[in-house]
Amino acid sequence: MCGIVGYVGMKSAAPLILEGLRRLEYRGYDSAGVAILNDNRIITRKKAGKIDDGLARLLGLQPAPGTIGIGHTRWATHGAPTDDNSHPHFDQSGRIAMVHNGVIENYDRLKARMKDHTFRSATDTEVLAHLIGIHYERLKQEAGGSELPLLTRAVTEALREVIGTYGIAVACADQPGLLVGARRGSPLIVGIGNDEHFLASDALAIAAHTRQVVYLNDYDVVTLQRERFQVANLGADTARVQITRLEIDPEAAEKGTYPHFMLKEIFEQPRAVENALRGRINHDEATANFGGLNMTLAELRAVDRIVMPACGTSWHAALVGEHLFEEFAQIPTEVEYASEFRYRNAPLEKNTLVLVITQSGETADTLAGLRESRRRGHKVLSVCNVVGSTIAREADGGIYLHAGPEIGVASTKAFTSQVTVLTLFALLLGRIRTLAASRAMQVIRSLEALPKQLESVLKQNDEIKRIALKYAAAEDFFFLGRQYNFPVALEGALKLKEISYIHAEGYPAAEMKHGPIAMIDEKTPSIFVMPDDALYDKNVSNLEEIKARKGPIIAITTEGNTELAAKVNDILYLPRTQDPLFPLLAALPLQLLAYHIAVARGCDVDKPRNLAKSVTVE
Ligand code: G6P
Repeated sequence: MCGIVGYVGMKSAAPLILEGLRRLEYRGYDSAGVAILNDNRIITRKKAGKIDDGLARLLGLQPAPGTIGIGHTRWATHGAPTDDNSHPHFDQSGRIAMVHNGVIENYDRLKARMKDHTFRSATDTEVLAHLIGIHYERLKQEAGGSELPLLTRAVTEALREVIGTYGIAVACADQPGLLVGARRGSPLIVGIGNDEHFLASDALAIAAHTRQVVYLNDYDVVTLQRERFQVANLGADTARVQITRLEIDPEAAEKGTYPHFMLKEIFEQPRAVENALRGRINHDEATANFGGLNMTLAELRAVDRIVMPACGTSWHAALVGEHLFEEFAQIPTEVEYASEFRYRNAPLEKNTLVLVITQSGETADTLAGLRESRRRGHKVLSVCNVVGSTIAREADGGIYLHAGPEIGVASTKAFTSQVTVLTLFALLLGRIRTLAASRAMQVIRSLEALPKQLESVLKQNDEIKRIALKYAAAEDFFFLGRQYNFPVALEGALKLKEISYIHAEGYPAAEMKHGPIAMIDEKTPSIFVMPDDALYDKNVSNLEEIKARKGPIIAITTEGNTELAAKVNDILYLPRTQDPLFPLLAALPLQLLAYHIAVARGCDVDKPRNLAKSVTVE
């Protein structure tokens, strides 16, 4: 949420920062801005709106020369998305510029102390900029002191007074040649180049320039100069600095020939699932292997309960996981909204395994759930896509998705990859308990068949588009499924809401008659995810109940079904698989339906209103 880029070097900073911000736009796109240091002054350009409509145009008309600068793309928390509220913000003197990702929770109290200050925005960020300015002025008067630059010391002192979360980048007109960055709760990375250094909230922003990075830890304060960088920590005598090599391919984050990232990522799912499976299947023992769990088989065998905190689409993947862990391994499992879990005094017994599910590895609530669980002495594993993300680094062990960068704000390939690795993990947990090798082998064979089956589902894109256009004007939708297919119904509803702004609800099919069926009329379509499984007939009864009330029905069922077409308005057939794997196939038509409806309604699919991909505030 909110993207940050900083640069100190010999190149022209503004175009380089702008390019980085474009790569981070999925983190927020309400407004964007830069502050460039130029001969003891700061040139600022900032504008409400998406980067190409606002900041890029402004920089085209009024370039900002200079080789040191900071930039920001915003997802508004405090203050509407206006030019004034866009970052950078300044201190009272106008000589210190700052960009910020996070929330300064005590900004009201801090602001109350600044009675004679003039504020130009409604943001919490501006208050922190003023606080840094106050400390800067005070430290300037004091003789001597440390060898650290004045700006670094001022930032450090100001942050000691702050309650909340921050990833910041700061520049000062009177401190030429340097930038200061700091983090707590929001990600920040230092990029090491040749005679240049970068700062970014996300490795994607700088991967085209350098592969050498340092992931900053909470309370780190970094001073960047062209030829060196120095990290200190607010809470410790020394900071832990580890240089890591980035393994991401910046080209994987390009749209290529697709009109939208979302469509590209939907079509990447056969490969993503293949990557999630690669090297992890052990045919001889009908089980799965993972390299990074950091738990022995004995420890895994001792697990008697699993708790999965997650948010959004990851929460839906976790719900599929709940069924898998219970079915394959007989381990009682609960899925928690991370935002609720973190504040609840949930009793966790000694052998409870906390398994956090997150694409980005930066979601603030999920991270807080992880920290709270570790504080209580629990093992925490993560299922995560972004390598080197805060959650991946702070968990005791984990499983990477290897899905490649997901840029579309609406998550797609991460969902199918998450469900794939959760299936593998459930197989492993099952096989060290009572799951028979023969049953495990059936699931393994079906998993291996998935990439090809997913490709065949994608070939139905034209038919899915036809159905989407038929229903694109509807204002309410229901998504219904049972057992394994209830979470995927929830996910289908979320996709539609996120990108087309149509009201959509997911329910277990039988639950409709306990209230929601009151909403059904001839204008309210219901999408049934109903494979030929043990509950097929039950689904048919629920479908008849909706039909009797004139609700249009779109069914997603299994190839070979010959009787359902006559009962429904539209139908899609998916390849036959094991029951637990059907959600993996069903996710694709649901994603494509949402996509085509959103495009038909003229919505900005990759940058839906009010949303951001990585939610680093609570
Ligand atoms: C945001 C995104 C969702 C995502 C959720 C959790 O709300 O818009 O697409 O599912 O965060 O993100 P995570 O990175 O933790 O999976």
